[in-house]
Amino acid sequence: MKKIYLLIGALACAFAACDSGDIYPADRTNKGDNIAVAVSFRLSARDKIPAGYSLVFGAFEENSSSPLVWTSVMETAGDAPVRVSLSSVPKAARTVKLSLFTVGRKAIYDFYTFDISTALDAIEIPLTDVSLLLKYNKIQEMFGKNCTACHGTERGGGGLLLGDGVSYAALVNQAATNSEKVRVEPYSVQNSFLMDVLTDEAIKLSQPHSTILYADDINLLKAWIAAGAEHN
Ligand code: HEC
Repeated sequence: MKKIYLLIGALACAFAACDSGDIYPADRTNKGDNIAVAVSFRLSARDKIPAGYSLVFGAFEENSSSPLVWTSVMETAGDAPVRVSLSSVPKAARTVKLSLFTVGRKAIYDFYTFDISTALDAIEIPLTDVSLLLKYNKIQEMFGKNCTACHGTERGGGGLLLGDGVSYAALVNQAATNSEKVRVEPYSVQNSFLMDVLTDEAIKLSQPHSTILYADDINLLKAWIAAGAEHN
């Protein structure tokens, strides 16, 4: 029933041209229910999106990694900009983002964010350059929140240092203390002991690790390794 009213409302609006914008004060609640957002991106490092992940443009509420509406960003030939649009963004949305998505449709890494909290109806974001490299400082930030209490810059559980400035050299292609595997093997989540420690209940260490991180953080680490574990 509600849908029908909305449809009638939209038609009435179209005929009466009631969306002229100068009758009502600039109050988001007085306009239609949704806004339209369009943007063009010039993307670099497009080959860095790892297999199993996708590039998505979506609209998000505050502090949410699940979009209200979203669209996949398609490949374009050569360096041509790619144009994406969302025609019906609920006004509860606060930002639009270009993000790396997991299969579960959650944003685990944001390449680009634009504030739409004051947008009234339709906005066109100018052509924007975006690099699709995963920045190591996002990984380091996550270590800082979850790991550095026990894995510092000078001392760490299992001899592993995850402090700022030392973690990369301690992980990538480095022998592990508790395994034959290296801690991180670029491009191979499978061969990286780090991921076993964080996800595999069967790994027995004096400190259990499989409940330390949320799934989004685990997926970010996997994506980083699958994209080559670079120090960007
Ligand atoms: C409460 C303390 C604590 C926290 C928090 C912690 N760890 Fe550990 N971690 C340890 C201890 C202690 C060991 C050594 C266990 C052993 O040798 O049996 C260890 C071992 C490891 C190892 C194995 C190292 C090797 O070479 O064998 C990895 C990988 C690891 N931790 C990663 C992490 C990451 C990533 C985080 C954060 C997401 C984290 N840890 C958070 C205490 C902690």
